Amino acid sequence: MAILVTGGLGYIGSHTVVELLNNGFEVVIVDDLSNTERFILNNIEEITGKKPVFYPFDLRRKELLTQVFDAHQIDGCIHFAAYKAVGESQIRPVDYYENNLFSLINILQEFKAREISNFIFSSSCTIYGQAEVMPITEKTPLKLPESVYGKTKQMGEEILIDFAKAYHRKISLLRYFNPIGAHPSGKIGELPIGVPSNLVPFVMQTASGVREKLNIWGNDYATEDGTAVRDYVYVVDLAKAHVAALKKLIDDSSADSLIDIYNLGTGNGSSVLEVVKAFEKANNVEVPYQICARREGDITIAYADPQKAQKELNWKSETSLEESLRTVWEWQKYLNTRS
Ligand code: UD1
Repeated sequence: MAILVTGGLGYIGSHTVVELLNNGFEVVIVDDLSNTERFILNNIEEITGKKPVFYPFDLRRKELLTQVFDAHQIDGCIHFAAYKAVGESQIRPVDYYENNLFSLINILQEFKAREISNFIFSSSCTIYGQAEVMPITEKTPLKLPESVYGKTKQMGEEILIDFAKAYHRKISLLRYFNPIGAHPSGKIGELPIGVPSNLVPFVMQTASGVREKLNIWGNDYATEDGTAVRDYVYVVDLAKAHVAALKKLIDDSSADSLIDIYNLGTGNGSSVLEVVKAFEKANNVEVPYQICARREGDITIAYADPQKAQKELNWKSETSLEESLRTVWEWQKYLNTRS
């Protein structure tokens, strides 16, 4: 079966492509290389011994997308391609709405016209906002996200739900908590382009001396050590969840399961300080840090209830925080050999 993977050279996309290839799927990647580099494609090939088809273009270019669907018998899509920087989304809202929504709609037009089903959407736990009760289940009420980025994820979900209902196609909405880590081979991972705003890439760069100090955004939260708590899930585990979700869409022909929704996390919360300490311990390095004021828009605590994914997809995160953070350091060492 041929699966279109948009953003397949990006962080979660590249790890998912590896898992798809290892599970016998054919993969067609569309990626405009706006937030990744071409060497990731070669490294996917080195890891798997298989070469995915690759088209470098922006999904807003509808005519090119049509050509891809003409050239390949596409049986499903995992749609990662999107702008994802929260801060940037606030100052470039129109670009974010245009890119994230038009890309999605262009693919859905092809799906609609060609009677294709099986669409998996990269969503985010950001759509729950600060939930009142932990852990967060799929039934936890959604809140309108504060960021434009978050709104594009929520709107994407709405569009897909309407699409599934109107055309009777199967979709899966995967709500990620905080993905971290790199492939055990050390050859693919999160590429640090610009100053990272996410915690683990910043910790990685601080440990390696690229950044002087980690700024910890606030230690006055109502948590055990005062720093904010998140659910950090290993990216390879997350990639495997995509394959499980895809297989379920393909195998499950019952019409009552048109729309699958899963929270993908470990079920455990870790504070910022716990992540820093775990990184230091896992890699025997120091991470200098200072406590700063809270970052605007941050919530206190979020962690998943992963039971639905476990029950229906037979998936659970298996990699510890320390083990995930070890792979981050291996990835940094690999990046050092390239520079
Ligand atoms: C962020 C986004 C979220 C998005 C997710 C994608 C915000 C407000 N939220 O989630 O919408 O889906 O990334 O991965 O940006 N931290 C520091 N110092 C740093 C960086 C982070 O202390 O230099 C802290 C943050 O305050 C937070 C935790 O580390 O408490 C995790 O931050 P981050 O990795 O940016 O993820 P989220 O904020 O959870």
